[in-house]
This record gives sequence, structure tokens and C-alpha cells, in this order.
Amino acid sequence: MTPIKSAVSTAAALEEWLTGVDRRTAQVGVIGLGYVGLPLILLLSEERFRVTGFDVDASKVESLNHGRSYIHRIEPEHIRAAQRSGFHATSNFAEIAEMDAVLICVPTPLNPDHTPDMSYVVSTIEEIAPYLRAGQLVVLESTTYPGTTEEIIVETINRYGAARGVKVLREGAVASSDLDGVMVAFSPEREDPGNLITPRREIPKVIGGVDSRATAAAVALYGSIFHKTVPVSSPAAAEMTKLLENIYRCVNIALVNELKQLSEPMGIDIWEVIDAAATKPFGFQPFYPGPGVGGHCIPIDPFYLNWKAQQFGVQAKFIELAGEVNEAMPDYVVQSTARALERSGGSLKGAKVLVLGIAYKRDVDDLRESPSLVVIEKLRKAGADVAYNDPFFEQVGSGRHYDLQMRSTPLENLERFDCVMILTDHSLYPYEEIVSQSRLVIDTRNATRAIDSPKIVRC
Ligand SMILES: NC(=O)c1ccc[n+]([C@@H]2O[C@H](COP(=O)([O-])OP(=O)(O)OC[C@H]3O[C@@H](n4cnc5c(N)ncnc54)[C@H](O)[C@@H]3O)[C@@H](O)[C@H]2O)c1
Repeated sequence: MTPIKSAVSTAAALEEWLTGVDRRTAQVGVIGLGYVGLPLILLLSEERFRVTGFDVDASKVESLNHGRSYIHRIEPEHIRAAQRSGFHATSNFAEIAEMDAVLICVPTPLNPDHTPDMSYVVSTIEEIAPYLRAGQLVVLESTTYPGTTEEIIVETINRYGAARGVKVLREGAVASSDLDGVMVAFSPEREDPGNLITPRREIPKVIGGVDSRATAAAVALYGSIFHKTVPVSSPAAAEMTKLLENIYRCVNIALVNELKQLSEPMGIDIWEVIDAAATKPFGFQPFYPGPGVGGHCIPIDPFYLNWKAQQFGVQAKFIELAGEVNEAMPDYVVQSTARALERSGGSLKGAKVLVLGIAYKRDVDDLRESPSLVVIEKLRKAGADVAYNDPFFEQVGSGRHYDLQMRSTPLENLERFDCVMILTDHSLYPYEEIVSQSRLVIDTRNATRAIDSPKIVRC
């Protein structure tokens, strides 16, 4: 594996780097082999790039090197096809030195006090900085607050590189004809897991380089796997773009969650209203209510900006309010369930409740920040005897914010439960059958829209 060239600072050197991308001799490293990194590797491999995957999780590295997948929607055959194109996984970060491009896809969660947990990004860049050399492109893909690329990635590369003469390329800062800088960019991941309508390649890739050469290099690399690239003027503009998208979703979901709670006492079906409003050909995009928001993005990313806003003395009121409304939804769902049980002469205390779906959204095997986990804990606290079913999770143990230790209950004899709650509307659930077998159905997703039954309570 010969790297394309040891550095880029002149137009000719950049041309040579771009030729390596064109001819697929470029070696690409992807750090973080999770829901974002692994599909990215497969796209690169499909385009005949030689890819090395890096992860601190030895079990993931081992699985991939044995051609096994640990993500539901990725078939082992796709991993094996990538292997045939030269893909291998490793925990040996010394191999970073052989890469021409390094794409970082590590987690960016929240601390318990809603501040950004940057520990994964910091440990990644500190781990790889000793191996970086002039001529490489480093791209951060993890969602984060504006300023991260400059404040953490660029700063760490320059700090570690000082003794070795390695620094980040910056416009106008390089006069020599020799190659003497690392190109750095930010390019947010915009994947929508479970979305079968928009192929990943058709999601335009936003790119903001620290300088024009970094932008050009990243545009060339991503342009060979995505149908469209969208260069912006800086990493911070690209970081803010991703947050705008997710905050837009978060705020609009909070709005419909609030309107759902208002519509209920008014006797109005909020889903009917959203569908009617969605017929307007302009100025309206439908968002749907639910038991709260989950996943790695919507419940987390807005707080990254909120935290940064405070450093500028700005209060991000929309973000705070949306977070408040969405976080209150599990309580609303539990209270609605308690009221429904009382109406049928029962009580939540001691009730046998079956929760359908613990994944954070339909048809995904991801339960990070899932509102179902919060609802289960609240039901248990209220004295209910809770079971769950989820075809994607045979069992659930403990995580950052939960400790459930439960196994999935078979979807049968539903009449033994006082109530069945649809919290995640997986498409393979037989809803007609579920309703006919159950005594009471709490539907938080409008999954039973086609079924007319007095047993259903939509909330
Ligand atoms: N999952 C999504 O749908 C999605 C969509 C858009 C953006 N994002 C963003 O992409 C980023 C990654 O998310 P994800 O869902 O892929 O996370 P993930 O948890 O599925 O995967 C992250 C991987 O990084 C590895 N890792 C952690 N620290 C490391 C280190 N120091 N060195 C090497 N590997 C390390 C972990 O072991 C894990 O395999 C996050 O910032 C997330 O917000 C995710």
C-alpha cells in the first residue's frame, strides 16, 4: 500500500492527490465502525476504494474480519464483497500513516447534564495525531457544535505535529513547493436509518474545509460515492448546517407533540389534521407525534448548539422549549394509559402491560435514547408489571440511561395483558391481529389507523 504522495500544498500536488481518488489508488481509513462508519465503508468499497476500518471495539473488528455483520440491515455478503475489494478492520492505529484520507465517525453523545460529551472525538484525534503526515485528508463526520473541527481536530493535529513539523494546511500559509500540511474538513453524516426511499448515495454531502485544498480533496472523494456534494465556506458552516437540520426536526416534532395533547381534549384526531395539512403543495412539511424522540440525533444534537450558544451569551429558547416538550411525552403517554385503564375499571398499579417496540423508531435495530425505555421505567415505577416485544431485540440489559434486564416476550396470548402499548410501529407487526387479541390497545404512532375498534386509544 503506497500512499499517493506525502503531502499537498501546491496545485500540482493537489492534482496528484485528486488523481489518486480518480484512479482509486487512494487508501481510505474510516474510524468508528458503527451505524455511520460501516455503511460508509461499504459505499467506498463498492466504488473500488481500498478501505481500512479502525475501531477500539475489538469484537467489531473481529466480526468484520470474519465477514460477519452486527447491524441488522447490513448483510454479511456486503462485508465479504468489501473484503474482496481490499477492506479489512483493525485496532492498530499505526496503520493511519498509510491512509490518504481518514474519515472520523465516532459517537458524540450528551453528558447527564446535557453538555456535549466530546471524549470520543478527543480520544480519536489524540490516538491518530502521532501517525498523521502531510498530504493526508482528515474529515470529521460526527455531529457536533460549530467550532469543533477548528478547536479540537485542527488544534490537536497542530499540537501533536509541532515536534514533527506536521501542521494543518491553511489558505496562504504555505509558500514552499514541497508538500507540508494535513488537509482538514468537516462533512456531516445525514443518513436516515430505516429510510428505504432515499438511497444513501442520493443524500447530498455537505463539506466545509479548513482551506480550499481540503474542500477540493473532500469534494473529490465524497463526489465519487455521493451523487451530489455541497461545498460550504468553512467547517463551522458545515457543522451548523447539520444542527439546523436536526433542530428543525426536533422543534417541529415538539410542535406536533404539543398539538396532539391539545387536540385530544378537543376531540380532534391530530393525524387526520396532519394528513390534511400535508396536501398543501408549499409551506408545510408533515411531522408526526409520538411517545417522545429517540436515536443518536434528535434528542441530543440540539443541546450541542444550546451549550455553544451559552458561550456567546445567547439563550436558544426554541431548542430548550422543544427539548422540554419532547422529554415530557413519555409522562403524557403513561398518564394517558393510566386514564384508559381506569376508564375500563382497572388501574396502572398492578396492571400487566405489553410494550410493542423498544427500538427508537420503526424497523431499526437501534435503541439509543429510545423513548420506549423511558416509558417502561415510568410504567414500572407506577407499579405496572411490564413486558416487551421487539423483533430487533431479543433482550435488553443496561445502557447509558437505563437498566432494564428484560427479554422479548413472544407475540401471542395477548389477552393475558391488561393493555398493549404500541410505542414503535415496526412494519412487520400484524396490527389487525394484535387489536383483535388485545383487551386494550394504546397506540402512540397511529399504527392502527386502518382499524376501527373501541379497544384502541390513540394518544
Ligand atoms: N446513527 C445515525 O443514524 C447517525 C446519523 C447521522 C449522524 N450520526 C452521527 O455520526 C456519529 C457516529 O454515530 P454512530 O451511530 O455511527 O455511532 P456508533 O456508536 O454506532 O458507532 C461509533 C463507533 O465508534 C467506535 N469508537 C468509539 N471511540 C472510538 C475511538 N476512540 N477510536 C475508534 N473507534 C471508536 C465505537 O466503538 C463504535 O463502533 C455520531 O456523531 C452521530 O451523531 C449518526
